[in-house]
Amino acid sequence: MRTPPANLVRPFHYGGAEDRELFCDRVPLARLVRQYGTPLYVYSANNILDRVQMFAEAFAGMRATLCYSVKANSNLSILRLLASAGAGFDIVSGGELERVRQAARPSLRRVVFSGVGKTAAEIDAALAAQILVFNVESPAELDLLEQRARHFRKRAPLAMRVNPDVFAATHPYISTGMTAHKFGVAIGDATALYQRAARSAYLVPTGVSVHIGSQIRVTEPFGQALHRVMELVRELKSSHGIRIQHIDAGGGLGISYDDPPQAGKSRKDVPLFDPKAAVQGYAQHIRAALAGFDSELLLEPGRFIIAQAGALLAQVLYTKRNGPKTFVVTDAAMNDLIRPALYQAYHSIVPLRRRQNRPSTVVDVVGPVCETGDFFARDRELPALQGGDSIALLDAGAYGMSLSSNYNSRPRAAEVLVEGNRHRLIRRRETMRDLLAAEKSLLLK
Ligand code: LLP
Repeated sequence: MRTPPANLVRPFHYGGAEDRELFCDRVPLARLVRQYGTPLYVYSANNILDRVQMFAEAFAGMRATLCYSVKANSNLSILRLLASAGAGFDIVSGGELERVRQAARPSLRRVVFSGVGKTAAEIDAALAAQILVFNVESPAELDLLEQRARHFRKRAPLAMRVNPDVFAATHPYISTGMTAHKFGVAIGDATALYQRAARSAYLVPTGVSVHIGSQIRVTEPFGQALHRVMELVRELKSSHGIRIQHIDAGGGLGISYDDPPQAGKSRKDVPLFDPKAAVQGYAQHIRAALAGFDSELLLEPGRFIIAQAGALLAQVLYTKRNGPKTFVVTDAAMNDLIRPALYQAYHSIVPLRRRQNRPSTVVDVVGPVCETGDFFARDRELPALQGGDSIALLDAGAYGMSLSSNYNSRPRAAEVLVEGNRHRLIRRRETMRDLLAAEKSLLLK
């Protein structure tokens, strides 16, 4: 096995006696399974902080603020950890606003509010919280924002979210930067909207924002989008006297989902994903596009910060054969991690304990939910697994727990945060009582 250089060491790695036990940092995961049960999300605090640091280094010398995208993983302890590292937040709902308020109240002033469908109540709550900026996505939303700001006699800072019509290769469900998508206003229509905002006593156009999609690995499109944004910024200033004070470059920087933990044997020839190099390459395109812009840069990464810090642990319940196929049935399901079902996403699956001389087999790893789409892997070569074994689904820290549901009336998983050799429960497992708490059993006559 290759030993990866220090900056490529993953939080989930084998160690212990004969290098057979899977760890998160210095905590053996088998211990967490015994203590907290499965399905269980586990996150490495150090890895999250490392990623924040990588961003800071890549954008050193620029006035850059990282506004972590809460939707990626919105656990209160994780928000608090990020706030302690100086992060602001990108939110898309009143619920996410409330999470930031509860986890890190002083960070409200570093909140950007995105989303195509903000309600009046959500706008009101964000005005009251005095957030940094509203990313406005339509003329109708601009009208509503001005109406609500007028109502409270407040001035609402805003950025138009422009749709730059730039193609970025990713899954079609998470590509957002083209006119065919519902997001933002056509960049050609933006000037008129800025003029409208500038005329209002209750609106303050402070920024321009753009977000072209998620899980973007080829980073040139970020530069292309920002070139278009810069043209707009220059035009606003020179032709209309509107001075833009910040550019929000959105999120979207992708990661590699197919690295084995510490370079397994079968993929020797695949270069390991280097997150530092990835964020530096991304920063280079952004720097080049923003040359000459001396105001603030906002960034809204989600996945890059938290995906690889997290894994979903599950237990194998049964293995079964149907004709030529072998199925490994786990106690986690699509309600816990929907990415494979929704985006045909790949997540590495590794055993918590590597056993010697176990042949590998080709299997489907599936959950108990009553849908054929409930799978984590199809026709995947894995070391043979049997009932009682525990496995980890890697790179599940982003859009794992936050996209989970109670489908099939399955209580949601617990979450644990690891800090070096310590671990803490940051969300307890849901109970049957939680599951039914909001409902009534009525018979309408
Ligand atoms: N800013 C805005 C306005 C966004 O819509 C998003 C993500 C982000 C920032 C953060 O993007 P990131 O850095 O995480 O790529 N559920 C999907 C991803 C959905 C992304 C939605 N928007 C998945 O599991 O791949």
